[in-house]
Amino acid sequence: MSKLKDILINKKICKSIWFMRQAGRYLPEFRKIRLQNQNFVNLCLNSELSSELTLQPIKRFNLDSAIIFSDILMVPYALGQRVDFIKDFGPKLDKFNFKVFTETNKDSFTQKLQPVYDAINKTRNKLNKEKSLIAFIGAPWTLLVYMLDLKSNKNEIDYKKIKFKTEEINLILNKLYEYLAIHIENQINAGADVVQIFDSWAGLIRPEDFINYCIVPNTKLVNFCKNKNIPVICFPKGIGKNYKKFNEMVKPDGINIDYEVNPNWVKTNLKHVVIQGGLNPEILLNSEEEIISNTKKYLDVFKDLPYVFNLGHGLLPSTDPDKVEKLIKFYRNY
Ligand code: CP3
Repeated sequence: MSKLKDILINKKICKSIWFMRQAGRYLPEFRKIRLQNQNFVNLCLNSELSSELTLQPIKRFNLDSAIIFSDILMVPYALGQRVDFIKDFGPKLDKFNFKVFTETNKDSFTQKLQPVYDAINKTRNKLNKEKSLIAFIGAPWTLLVYMLDLKSNKNEIDYKKIKFKTEEINLILNKLYEYLAIHIENQINAGADVVQIFDSWAGLIRPEDFINYCIVPNTKLVNFCKNKNIPVICFPKGIGKNYKKFNEMVKPDGINIDYEVNPNWVKTNLKHVVIQGGLNPEILLNSEEEIISNTKKYLDVFKDLPYVFNLGHGLLPSTDPDKVEKLIKFYRNY
């Protein structure tokens, strides 16, 4: 059994390390391949290259887990919505078409994402057995934000943009759940051994919708994983004190904390769950001393608990890989 899986299932008091966005733009070996592959979706659909990109940070840093090189927006793509990644802007999706969305069938969905599953299979065959291969999905709410383009420039939800009735939104969220469950199962069958659910925009949900848009869909996905014995980590980013409620209601095996929650508060309030992450990725842009002292803070707080070292969000493109290396070295000697 891989170490991460063992920690998540048996709550073993040992440690493990990996980074969100560990494969990506801060690595020169990634940028080289990216330069030759301008279309990001096609890069995710190139199983040979996406497997190679998945393994790049493992080869460079010998991290404990690999996360498959793909994107949460591959699901809207497979549900018939065009997805483009625009340089210096980010993802841009075509206008959501309710009819196309509801008419997609499960076979065509799996067929479109087959290269992702092939990449997982290829990667598993090359990856040391001790290391986890992490599959992931975006939570329904976070996907909805992208699919309906709900964010304003101020990083808030622009409710005027919601052109659907509540019942229709619920229908879309339920349908997304069904496809996400298929995507999880396909990734596990291809060789992944842990799943992480990214609810990156959970913090933007207004209080009266929090249960319906965050707790309910995440619980359904976690229960799906539990029924299949798939270890699952949730990352409901930006929800502050609601982390406690989330943990008590959703009951995932692991929970990734963001950099806004205090690790000591987390230690007292999040029980019966493996804690992962926390360190602000911006810290890695600072001096070595600052990186070490902030890393130490997290390791000290969680030293008597099962803890997976990671960040409070993904590595930033401007991160110096040498600083990542220094952090890992400190972690290994700790
Ligand atoms: O190493 C890894 O973590 C695995 C690969 C991974 C990517 N995206 C590759 C990627 C993972 C786990 C994701 C998840 C993802 N994608 C999330 C959830 C985590 C989070 O950041 O909150 C979200 C919201 C997305 C959507 C997305 N994809 C955005 C907003 C962007 C552009 C801005 C950014 O942060 O990079 C992407 C593009 C993307 N996904 C890149 C990579 C390596 C950069 C693509 C490039 O080279 O231009």
